[in-house]
Amino acid sequence: MERSHGIVRAIPVAVIRSLVVVILAAMGRRHHFDSSGALKLQYDFVIVGGGSAGSALAARLSEVPGWQVLLLEAGDAPPPESYVPGYHQLLLHGDADWKYFAEPERDAFRGFTGQRIPYPRGRVLGGCSIINSLFYVRGNRRDFDNWEAMGNPGWGYEEVLRYFKKMEDFKDRRPGKRLGRGGPVTVETKAWRTPVLEGFMKAGYQLGFSEVHPSDPDQVGFAAVELTTRGGVRWSTADGYVQPATGRPNLHVVLNAHVTRILFNGKKRAIGVRFKHRGEMKNVYVRREVVLSAGAIGSPHILMLSGVGPAYHLAQHDIKIVADVPGVGQNLNDHPYLTGLAWTINNGSSFNIFDTVQPSVIAEYVRSRSGLLSTPISIEGHAWPRAAVGDPQWPEVQMGFTPFTLGNDYGILSSRVLGFDRNFYRQYFRGLGGVEGFSLGPILSRPKSRGNVTLVTSNPFHAPRISLNYFSHPDDIVTFIRGMKFAFEIASTPALRDDFGARFYDKVLPGCEAFVPLSDAYLECYARTLTGTIYHPSGTCKMGPASDPFSVVDHRLKLRAVRGLRVVDASIMPQITSGNINAPTIMIGEKAADMIKYDWKTS
Ligand SMILES: Cc1cc2nc3c(=O)[nH]c(=O)nc-3n(C[C@H](O)[C@H](O)[C@H](O)COP(=O)(O)OP(=O)(O)OC[C@H]3O[C@@H](n4cnc5c(N)ncnc54)[C@H](O)[C@@H]3O)c2cc1C
Ligand SMILES: *[C@@H]1O[C@H](CO)[C@@H](O)[C@H](O)[C@H]1NC(C)=O
Ligand SMILES: *[C@@H]1O[C@H](CO)[C@@H](O)[C@H](O)[C@H]1NC(C)=O
Repeated sequence: MERSHGIVRAIPVAVIRSLVVVILAAMGRRHHFDSSGALKLQYDFVIVGGGSAGSALAARLSEVPGWQVLLLEAGDAPPPESYVPGYHQLLLHGDADWKYFAEPERDAFRGFTGQRIPYPRGRVLGGCSIINSLFYVRGNRRDFDNWEAMGNPGWGYEEVLRYFKKMEDFKDRRPGKRLGRGGPVTVETKAWRTPVLEGFMKAGYQLGFSEVHPSDPDQVGFAAVELTTRGGVRWSTADGYVQPATGRPNLHVVLNAHVTRILFNGKKRAIGVRFKHRGEMKNVYVRREVVLSAGAIGSPHILMLSGVGPAYHLAQHDIKIVADVPGVGQNLNDHPYLTGLAWTINNGSSFNIFDTVQPSVIAEYVRSRSGLLSTPISIEGHAWPRAAVGDPQWPEVQMGFTPFTLGNDYGILSSRVLGFDRNFYRQYFRGLGGVEGFSLGPILSRPKSRGNVTLVTSNPFHAPRISLNYFSHPDDIVTFIRGMKFAFEIASTPALRDDFGARFYDKVLPGCEAFVPLSDAYLECYARTLTGTIYHPSGTCKMGPASDPFSVVDHRLKLRAVRGLRVVDASIMPQITSGNINAPTIMIGEKAADMIKYDWKTS
């Protein structure tokens, strides 16, 4: 183990990067995204942010030949290593990441440096679809039916289903009525699997669950993950949407363009945006609309910098108020995710992180884009238990099955990526270094706690303040503890306990010595120490009816308080979906494109 340990240290990112350049060249992949040489002064639409939603929107709007569309992205083209699923963790804290941190919290994040967690966001064409863990999950039908019930006509499951099917290209599923084929978002069934994944799936049967598709609208059950890859290579929205559209003369993509604010005329109409490009400040104007697709952190940030937000808060930063919109930056939803609960198992049945740098593994990937590197170092199976409160088919927690423990890599990657306090990591996880095992990580599907995004300064190049406020609503910790207990049920099935020798790593968590191990009080202490995020900020420009004072956009995604401006990204979700949110965010981009086309045809 110490030997492999050395290999990891010896192979720097630069070496991996050159390696991947070779792989991509062998595949004949070449990108020409940037068309800043062609930049004009005015467009029909300017889209701010080329992430999951913005990329989809840019491609779809530019289908209308008469519309001139500009996509402004703060980041650069996707870096080569982003294409290899097994190296996705290397992107975090790198150039393609905004490198944010969430605020420290008194009652959470106790095991993390400074009691705060890193909060990565893609700063690259493709946005978070370039740095994410590639899981494709549509969400529960009740999530969307609930959006509609909250006063958003047209957003119920049967209606959004049209857009999921339009965008999807399920490669390994029999084409059916419910799954899409031939769309821009390729979804593959994970080909490389650890032996212990079988144990996890069998545990589901032994607990009375059936196997479900990860995008089953009724969710309850166990599922092997599906990935947004094509032939074992990451398939982002930059590849699926922007790349095929770059040949169109009416779409201009400008990279390294950091938008600092939206420009309004005296009648509160958005007339353009201001941005910094190659060290120079520039303005660009619109004939029709400005669309913010800067994500759940970026979009409220830009709105506030532009004078659209809670008036008292903008006044604190001497920002001239265009419109008092109290909901901007509020209603921050996220999915808390606990990765620490660990079980050891028989050798040879799980994922060894050090194998990702073995020459034979690299050779296999170069040869056939298969093997260990075709899969992210992350979750391999999902489980959705019935809800104990409310509609049983609308799970309160999602379980992530990870075929390794956080101790496996001695903290080289895991500790750096997740931001654990070094001493804390060493004290607790030391016993797991190089040892095989798995973890079962509960994810709170629909937290009641809400965070917010606010300004620290009015300088557009300073990061905003991100307050997650995890577990501040008392129901959340109760639900979460139920989720933790479900993890123990799964691990105690004969399928895992007998067939794989699963043993709970029962070292007492530092800081929780005062509680009886595995009592509710201990589990609460554990959750408040080790729970982090699964990176799903959403809801900060909430979609809702005029009667909701904290809604920011209407069901057509138009800002109510000003004209000529929409928000199209994860920030419009009135409530987070009960699954990973990349798929529903792309769906939002697809649906918005249709609404914009319709609105301009009929007005
Ligand atoms: C580490 C990680 C792992 C994840 N894993 C998964 C997963 O496995 N499955 C899943 O479903 N979801 C996952 N997610 C979440 C999912 O990828 C995101 O929720 C989704 O991509 C968000 O899409 P978006 O369009 O709202 O925002 P983004 O994709 O973040 O796009 C916003 C874009 O706007 C740009 N931008 C921001 N501000 C400005 C500005 N001022 N000027 C110009 N451009 C700007 C950004 O650079 C970015 O490209 C993960 C996220 C992360 C960070
Ligand atoms: C697995 O291998 C490790 C490292 O060689 C060893 O320490 C451990 O005891 C083995 N575990 C089992 C269950 O055989
Ligand atoms: C944001 O949330 C934090 C933490 O709950 C709270 O202290 C703060 O007042 C909130 N700020 C705004 C502007 O709502």
